[in-house]
Amino acid sequence: MNKLNVNGEEMEFIADPDTPLLWVLREQLGLTGTKYGCGVAQCGACTVHIDGAPVRSCVVPLSAVQETQAVVTIEGLSRNGTHLVQRAWRTLDVPQCGYCQSGMIMAVAALLRTKPRPTEADIDAAITNICRCGTYQRVKAAIGLAVRSSGPRTGEAGELLEPAQGSAA
Ligand code: FES
Ligand code: FES
Repeated sequence: MNKLNVNGEEMEFIADPDTPLLWVLREQLGLTGTKYGCGVAQCGACTVHIDGAPVRSCVVPLSAVQETQAVVTIEGLSRNGTHLVQRAWRTLDVPQCGYCQSGMIMAVAALLRTKPRPTEADIDAAITNICRCGTYQRVKAAIGLAVRSSGPRTGEAGELLEPAQGSAA
């Protein structure tokens, strides 16, 4: 029996150690918000957080994730879609087909967690996710909106489950 802490809950399941985390999340745990795009760490559709850091879960084997680490998927980013980034996404109606967008949001949320005021270069370096619908301009605009609308770190993300960088767990 395997155990992982996912979205704040301890979850038990059976899977081979070399199973990519993406497939554990989707197939074993039913968390299908995380998408499969390329399978080779290129597109970012499968982005989730491990201990707050963005990872491309299609290339992370189950054996590389410790039971004590906190895995967060799009389903756990906030309880009601109230994360700062999700709110900006809704306001600017960012998605087109939507397939890439959970990975995009998770990548942006991780960036703003460590760099609440990212430079253009920071954004270009961190957000390398591919969107086949070409929503890049709206993604950039929504990142700007999220940055502008963020107040003090405390409480800015509504029901954000992940603690802000440097805060107590
Ligand atoms: S599916 Fe993981 S990066 Fe494309
Ligand atoms: S919104 Fe369709 S792939 Fe990005």
